[in-house]
Amino acid sequence: MAASSPHSLLLQNPNHPCNNSFFRRPNPNGYFFKTPISKKSLSITCTTLSSPSSPASTSSLKSPSKPSQDRIFNFAAGPATLPENVILKAQSELFNWRGSGMSIMEMSHRGKEFLSVIQKAESDLRTLLKIPDEFEVLFLQGGATTQFAAIPLNLCDPGNPVDFVVTGSWGDKAFKEAQKYCKPNLIWSGKAEKYTKIPSFDALEQNPDAKYLHICANETIHGVEFKNYPTPKGKDAVLVADMSSNFCSKPVDVSKFGIIYAGAQKNVGPAGVTVVIIRKDLIGHAQSITPVMLDYKIHAENKSLYNTPPCFAIYMCGLVFEDLLEQGGLEEIEKKNMKKGGILYDAIDGSSGFYRCPVEKSVRSLMNVPFTLEKSDLEAEFIKEAAKEGMVQLKGHRSVGGVRASIYNAMPLAGVEKLVAFMKDFQAKHA
Ligand SMILES: Cc1ncc(COP(=O)(O)O)c(C=O)c1O
Repeated sequence: MAASSPHSLLLQNPNHPCNNSFFRRPNPNGYFFKTPISKKSLSITCTTLSSPSSPASTSSLKSPSKPSQDRIFNFAAGPATLPENVILKAQSELFNWRGSGMSIMEMSHRGKEFLSVIQKAESDLRTLLKIPDEFEVLFLQGGATTQFAAIPLNLCDPGNPVDFVVTGSWGDKAFKEAQKYCKPNLIWSGKAEKYTKIPSFDALEQNPDAKYLHICANETIHGVEFKNYPTPKGKDAVLVADMSSNFCSKPVDVSKFGIIYAGAQKNVGPAGVTVVIIRKDLIGHAQSITPVMLDYKIHAENKSLYNTPPCFAIYMCGLVFEDLLEQGGLEEIEKKNMKKGGILYDAIDGSSGFYRCPVEKSVRSLMNVPFTLEKSDLEAEFIKEAAKEGMVQLKGHRSVGGVRASIYNAMPLAGVEKLVAFMKDFQAKHA
């Protein structure tokens, strides 16, 4: 090794991690052995942190033309599959984020490095969703479930009515939680029809004094998705939407909403961060009992840095937002999602009843596709056989059973095509 090479310089630095006898040596596949090694052997370590062919060593977010052979197709509802190029980029930056000498996980959330990360994430999200200036963007913790309480606490006094249209289990959970903090009315529920429909908006009897109308834009368990949105009728009412499972899957007119909220772990990142987009005039009216961590005013005034935020999760969301922009923005993403959803629903509908999706056609989700097999005793075998072929997490939610394929933004078309081919084969074997 030449005296001036970067590696020999590293070896002269006693503080460099390579000069720690517990440095983890990469094996030929880019993984690490936790092996104590002597300083003598250092000349062969501290090199590539990924396999030589891996794009991880570049800083590009360019999508790979083909999914990697090392990965399976993960149809989980969340935490869910992430874009390969995003994971590889995070891998390449994990050890030493952009020359800072630290990983994102180790740096101060108030330092200039992390501030640049969170600011870029917000700015890219604003570009993606064309978020108007009169909306605040918050990166919070506690999952979407925490928002079920935070929303009534921030928008209502305890005696205020609010309206709920419940089209699945998540909307129902939000409705039940709101009962502790305000007076929610269930103005429509799809429960009697096993959550397979969305009502006609004209027929909704909204309370004129309701503070907000709550919907779950995409019911992750039941696979029911709003294709357009109701207009709140009350004079002060705003539309509030849980978009956890279809966030950034298509363009949305944010100005129609008072609040949009979404747990990241389906479409835009890992678990740990929840994005809240809120109209600024709705901030600052929290009930006096509101815990500080649920008060939007506190988080807005502190730019989501009132306390230690989920730094790594926010960083990952930032990489996903960058990737979505590089793919051409949400119009392009929607086209891809329509194509994937289209071929999967066509396969179900074209199976002469072997597979069946219970959801009314006009409101079928492009993100979560639940289906059953006519011969329900074959479902377990279907899921097992699919897993053997590298397609996992296809079991329907424990509350409804059957099969569910979650095909979020990051599920490649190749994954859906492989599933459809498998479905046809399986049918041919068992019809
Ligand atoms: C639509 C929807 N809302 C809320 C939640 C709850 O999210 P969290 O687990 O982040 O609290 C989920 C989780 O799957 C969901 O799918």
